[in-house]
Amino acid sequence: MKIKNNKNNYFYFKESKRLKLISKSWFKIYEIDKKFNIFKNNTNIIDLGSYPGGWIKYIIDNFKNIKIFSCDIKNIEIKNKNIFFIKGDIYKTYNLLINIINNKNICRVDTITSDICHKITGHNDIDIIKIIDFINLSLKLCNDILKNKGNLVFKCFNGSKDIKLIINKIKKMFNIIKIIKPISSNKNSKEFYIVCKNFKRNKEVI
Ligand SMILES: C[S@@+](CC[C@H](N)C(=O)[O-])C[C@H]1O[C@@H](n2cnc3c(N)ncnc32)[C@H](O)[C@@H]1O
Repeated sequence: MKIKNNKNNYFYFKESKRLKLISKSWFKIYEIDKKFNIFKNNTNIIDLGSYPGGWIKYIIDNFKNIKIFSCDIKNIEIKNKNIFFIKGDIYKTYNLLINIINNKNICRVDTITSDICHKITGHNDIDIIKIIDFINLSLKLCNDILKNKGNLVFKCFNGSKDIKLIINKIKKMFNIIKIIKPISSNKNSKEFYIVCKNFKRNKEVI
């Protein structure tokens, strides 16, 4: 599928409903995966901030023998025996998430994705602090449970010098780092995504 470059953000919302893709976020992860080859068959994935489930739907429909460990404060709509969903605030469910994975005899996962985002306040300082906290949590999760050579994809926002600190941090953790603003991402939003590949565990960074 070729994603049309449409300036009207509502277009992707309508398309996601028409194609039963659950959310317009589906188009973002589709584009990211086509460009950067994030997912593979026979792998284990963590997805943070999964509701309503567009990213999960993309993964489960396109890859075989996948397990997805997912978390959101809202219940996801998609049900599948290979999706292990935890409802709750990730700051409180972090250890439970790791325990559930370990209880499936999985020590480390292949990929971590995070589209997690609070309700945007419009106050840059507040929004950036919250998003940086989510990013730091994802980076901690990498050190705790991501396989060497694993991947991380996470949401980020333009507009803070802290982003430079994050980039410096991830440069020490991953060999390949790419930045993408997906075609379907609202042109007026500061949102973009950072794709990190080839994880190298480095306890000193976090
Ligand atoms: C942009 S949406 C994710 C869309 C999703 N990737 C999809 O494909 O449908 C961001 C999600 O982050 C969740 N979220 C925000 N704060 C959270 C927290 N502290 N713990 C868990 N989830 C959180 C929100 O409930 C929201 O569903």
